[in-house]
Order: sequence, then C-alpha cells, then structure tokens
Amino acid sequence: MKAVELIKIKKNFQLSGFAYEPISPDAAVDGAIMDFLPIAETIKKSFVGAKFKAKGVATGVSGHSVIVKRVVIPATTAEEVQASIQIDAEQYIPFDISEVNLDYQIVGPTMATEDAGMEVVLVAAKKDKIQNHTNVITLAGRTPEVVDIDAFALQNAFEANYKVDPDAAVALLNIGASLMNINITKGGMPLFIRDVSVGGNQYTDILQKELQLSFQEAEDLKLGRTGGSEAEMVQPLLESITEMLIMEVQKTFDF
Ligand SMILES: Nc1ncnc2c1ncn2[C@@H]1O[C@H](COP(=O)(O)OP(=O)(O)OP(=O)(O)O)[C@@H](O)[C@H]1O
Ligand SMILES: [Mg+2]
Repeated sequence: MKAVELIKIKKNFQLSGFAYEPISPDAAVDGAIMDFLPIAETIKKSFVGAKFKAKGVATGVSGHSVIVKRVVIPATTAEEVQASIQIDAEQYIPFDISEVNLDYQIVGPTMATEDAGMEVVLVAAKKDKIQNHTNVITLAGRTPEVVDIDAFALQNAFEANYKVDPDAAVALLNIGASLMNINITKGGMPLFIRDVSVGGNQYTDILQKELQLSFQEAEDLKLGRTGGSEAEMVQPLLESITEMLIMEVQKTFDF
C-alpha cells in the first residue's frame, strides 16, 4: 500500500507526506482486494502514521476490468457525441454496459475516415472493480473522491515532473508486482494504453520454480538480499523474464 499527500502551491505540487506499508500477498491478488478489513486497517494506521490531514483520497484502477480506447464516434458535435456515446460504446466494451462506469473525452474531428466523425478517448471501468477500491477507503474512515485509471495517473505524474516535447511520442511504463501499465502518449494525449499481466512476481515465480524455493526465499534472492552461490543460475532466469517484458512493450508499439 502506497499513498502520498500533496499540497498544491500555485501550479505545482509539494509532497507533504508519504505512507508505505506492505500488505499480505493474499489480501490483494492481481490488484483486487480480497480481505477488506486488514487492508482498511493498514490504510487507517499508515495514514495516521504519515500524519495525513486530507479526508479525501484518490485511487486508481487498471487491468482486465478497465478499457481505454481511442474510437471514432459518428457525430459532428460534442452534443451528438454525448447523445449517442452509451449506444456507440457498446461495441467496444466486452462487458454489459450496465456493469460499467463510462467516461470519455473528445479529442477532435477525425481525419481517419472519409465520413464525419469525432475521435474520442473512451474509458469504461467495471463498477465492482471501482467499488472494490472505494469500499476499502470508506472502511478506513476516508472519503473516496477520485477513481482514476492508473495509466492516466502515470501520465499526469510524468507531465507534472518533466518538460514534455509536444511533438514527441513517449512510452510510459509502470511495472508493478503483477501488472504493467503501458501508456504511449503524444502532446498530452494518450495514443494507446495497454495493461499486461506481467511484473516483478514473474521474476520471483521463475526462481521459485527452477530453484525449488519458497516465495519469500525467491523474493529475497531476486532483491539480492541473499545468494551468491546461485548467481550464475539466477542471472539467465531473470534475463528470460526481462526478454518477455520487453516483448510485451514491443508488441504495444506494433498495435
Ligand atoms: N530493487 C528491486 N529489484 C527488482 N525488483 C524489485 C526491486 N524492488 C522491488 N521490486 C519488485 O517490484 C514489485 C513491487 O513493485 P510495486 O510496488 O510497483 O508493485 P505493486 O504496485 O504492489 O504491484 P501491482 O501494481 O502489480 O499490484 C515486486 O515484485 C518487488 O519484488
Ligand atoms: Mg502498483
């Protein structure tokens, strides 16, 4: 569990607090919260420990329950997009429309087709996934105020911290334990977003399997806390996973 508290000073943000607390691998699996009470307790304690003053909390979701797509809507005005987006969105979303929260942003008139159309960034997130996050925040005595998409938050962080060349395409990666968020951006807009179920756990997994270790032994070995003698065996195993991660990033460019 990681959280920061930010204070807005003019146009910039200042870090006023930071909370970091490990949670049991069984309590949150692949980004989904399984055990609400212990995680709510962890949030509560660590926010107090970090002296957070704000009541409101922003969180982010990603993975299978989230769809981000640039699509062309057959419409010429913002009003027309608004009127037809619910119906038009259905073909792009692999879930029942009643199961998701939908949002969108108009990029502008499309050049991609002969017919008139509006290019739109369409976002759909499953309601149960959102509630999975908001419930635990409420349970911790705080108010869920923003549920963002992890890949968008990554882009916001990038744009707040770096001078961005408006003509350059930039690939942003957030590699976690079980998930990698990929966001290819240009001029402040996400061109392509993809979440892949790979991350740090894969490195631990391969060491665990190939060297017959427990999760913790493999994790410690990966982080260089233990080992030495196995070094020549460990390196190629880790590299094979890195190759796979690189392939997934490469695949994203090919889309
Ligand atoms: N120095 C390091 N070298 C290699 N791997 C590391 C290092 N430090 C942390 N990791 C790995 O990074 C992963 C944790 O990253 P992070 O905190 O971003 O994940 P997370 O946000 O908990 O995961 P997710 O977003 O997938 O739910 C773990 O797999 C951990 O073993
Ligand atoms: Mg993460």
